[in-house]
Amino acid sequence: IRSVKNICCIGAGYVGGPTCAVLAWKCPDIKVTITDIAEDRIRAWNSDELPIFEPGLDDIVKEARGRNLFFTTDVDGSIEAADLIFVSVNTPTKVAGIGAGLAADLCYIEAATRRIATVSKRGAIIVEKSTVPCRTAESMNQILSALSPSNATFEILSNPEFLAEGTAVEDLLDPARVLIGSMPTTRGRLAQQRLAEVYSRWVRPEAIVTMGLWSSELSKLAANALLAQRVSSINAIAAICERTEANVHEVSSACRLDLRIGSKFLEAGIGFGGSCFQKDLQNLVYLSLSLGLPEVAEYWKQVLVMNAWTKQRFARNIVQKMFSTITAKHIAILGFAFKADTGDTREAPAIDVCRDLLEDGALLHIYDPKVSSSAINRALGPAKGSNVSFQSEQRAYTVEASMQQACVGASALVFLTKWAEFESHAVDWKAIYASMSKPAWIFDGRNIVKDPTALKKLGFIVYQSGVGY
Ligand code: NAI
Repeated sequence: IRSVKNICCIGAGYVGGPTCAVLAWKCPDIKVTITDIAEDRIRAWNSDELPIFEPGLDDIVKEARGRNLFFTTDVDGSIEAADLIFVSVNTPTKVAGIGAGLAADLCYIEAATRRIATVSKRGAIIVEKSTVPCRTAESMNQILSALSPSNATFEILSNPEFLAEGTAVEDLLDPARVLIGSMPTTRGRLAQQRLAEVYSRWVRPEAIVTMGLWSSELSKLAANALLAQRVSSINAIAAICERTEANVHEVSSACRLDLRIGSKFLEAGIGFGGSCFQKDLQNLVYLSLSLGLPEVAEYWKQVLVMNAWTKQRFARNIVQKMFSTITAKHIAILGFAFKADTGDTREAPAIDVCRDLLEDGALLHIYDPKVSSSAINRALGPAKGSNVSFQSEQRAYTVEASMQQACVGASALVFLTKWAEFESHAVDWKAIYASMSKPAWIFDGRNIVKDPTALKKLGFIVYQSGVGY
């Protein structure tokens, strides 16, 4: 097992890009090459307009790029030169075949592993960075043994990524923990040590946690399942609050004070989104089913059921309150990204809410500070398995350049992402109210309105998730 001087990262996405850019920035003596088959993505990483938005990322990439950080489509060349290879490819949910809708599609992991086996002459430490089902390393090992030359030595590690989009750089610079799972062999432990040495250049030693490979793989699924479960739990409580005149913010603040419960991830709203929670939970459900544990599968499935219901309930509420019809009514949609400080729309709750409102005949005016209109068009294209299309001439939504512009002439304003600019004191609520059609509604799915009484005084009718009217 060689010491690590040359690192390759396969997959230049939301995970591969930021993780390896930070690594290169922190370790100027290690050459880091991020490679991807997607030419447009690599082109963007090499330009002034990076393919993803993360606070602080631009400066890091600018400083390290060309020094010891490189972006290339030469996948084979990068693999061949590497001592250590991060596999950061996508692992989406399967859409067809066995396990469709639940199981992870491992075709990209397999393709990357086959490339490594074919191209890497000396062998390398291979690091699973992607979120994978438990025991994926076993399959990767089989591929490597079957395809690689006999003198090449490989060791597989699991090093799941815990960054959250929107705070990726912050999370990478000071991670709560870095898990490194290995096989319980001398070589496995040595490889584990090599990767730990790289992280120890900037990560607190107590945050670098070593464990067995299978535990490490499963820990990532477990952590996401537990986080998603908190969101669904508080949303279930929110629904009870709305029927009882309890206020979910008061209830959650009471719960947060208990140190055993903790203070994070207890904000009621329109549910979780993003590319990970749903997919990883589906994965855990599938894993439980394949292990013959249907009760365990049902338990985790309910977290997903609650999330889908939360989004539907929010949209239904809008229709109901606006006199049970929103046909041809203009509605301002404020925020489209799945959370603030990212332009990512994968599994954004906004997609489902907008689809429901469009299906009910509303005319939407969408504004998000970081999501492009082409991304919105892609997201609101025909739903999988549906024959409804909102594209081209039938399109019943427009993309607007500002919050104010989206609200002009609208009967309702709907908050779907917690962007700081929506909460800002600079928002001229009086002018917004004057520009809207009356009665003017605010449907706050993200706990943005801090002083509903002030807005009600202006004339707005205000609905907040978990509070009611
Ligand atoms: P992504 O879709 O943004 O990036 C994956 C990239 O891999 C794509 O650009 C794709 O072209 C490339 N790729 C696929 N197969 C390839 C191959 N054979 N050779 C070269 N490039 C290839 O995905 P993202 O969001 O970066 O996620 C990657 C993994 O990390 C997933 O398993 C995900 O679950 C996990 N993860 C994601 C987090 C997130 O916040 N997005 C956080 C933690 C883990």
